[in-house]
Amino acid sequence: MNILFMGPPGAGKGTQAERIVEEFGIPHISTGDAFRLAMKQGTPLGLKAKEFVDQGLLVPDEITNGIVKERLAQDDCNKGFLLDGFPRTLQQAEALDVMLTELNRGIDHVVNLKVDRGLLLARLTGRRICKACGSTYHVMFNAPKQEGVCDKCGGELYQRSDDTEEKVGTRLDEYISKTAPLLDYYNGKGLLCEVDGEKEIDTVTTEIVSCLRGSL
Ligand code: AP5
Ligand code: ZN
Repeated sequence: MNILFMGPPGAGKGTQAERIVEEFGIPHISTGDAFRLAMKQGTPLGLKAKEFVDQGLLVPDEITNGIVKERLAQDDCNKGFLLDGFPRTLQQAEALDVMLTELNRGIDHVVNLKVDRGLLLARLTGRRICKACGSTYHVMFNAPKQEGVCDKCGGELYQRSDDTEEKVGTRLDEYISKTAPLLDYYNGKGLLCEVDGEKEIDTVTTEIVSCLRGSL
C-alpha cells in the first residue's frame, strides 16, 4: 500500500504514522525527520536545511525532491510506503508523480488529517519527543508516565526548536499558502480521504485504518 499523509503542522501525522506503518508493515518516510537527522549530524544537507527549518519555512523543492527520490528507490519501498510531510507544494506533487511513474508505482490513498488552527498551536507548543527512539508525546494530551522520560525506552524527552509560538505561526502560514492547495489536486484524482484529526488518538487511528481498507 502506497500512502500519503497530509495535514497542517501538529495535525498528528507523525503520531498516526508510527501506528499505521506497524499495522501495514511498510516503511515510514518523513521528510521532516530526514532533515532533523541531517541537521543533527551536521551534513551539508543538514546545514542547508537548517536555514529554512529553523525559520519555519519550507526547504526548497529541489533539495526535498532529491531526498525522497533516493529513499523511494530503496528495496524496502517495494512492499509500499507511507510518505509523511511530502509533498508540500504543487511542484513536489508533480515531481512525485514522475518518480512513481519511473518506478512503475502509484498512490493508493491520500489521508488528510483535519484540525483547527487554534488547537494546532496548543498541540505543537506542548509536544515532546524522545531523543533516543523518536516517539512523540504531549505534556497534556498524551503525557508520558514519568515527566520528561519516554515510556517505551526510558530516553530523555526534548522540545523541537521550531515548536515555539512564533515559528508555529510561520509554519501554519506556509501550510495555508503552499500545501493546502494540494488537497484539490488529490481530490481531483479521487484519492483523498478526509479524517477528523481532533478526535482521540485511538479513534483517529481507527478511522484512518477504515479509510485505507476502503470502508470510509
Ligand atoms: P515536519 O517534521 O514534517 O513537521 P510538520 O508538518 O510541521 O508536522 P509536525 O511534525 O509538526 O506535526 P505532526 O502532524 O506530525 O503532529 P504530531 O503527530 O507530532 O517538518 C518540519 C520542517 O521540515 C518544515 O517546517 C520544513 O521546514 C521542513 N520540511 C519537511 N518536509 C518538507 C517538504 N516536503 N518540503 C519542504 N520542507 C519540508 O502531533 C503533534 C502533537 O499533538 C504531539 O504532541 C502529539 O502527541 C499530539 N497529538 C497528536 N494527535 C493527537 C490527538 N488526536 N489528540 C490530542 N493530541 C494529539
Ligand atoms: Zn523513546
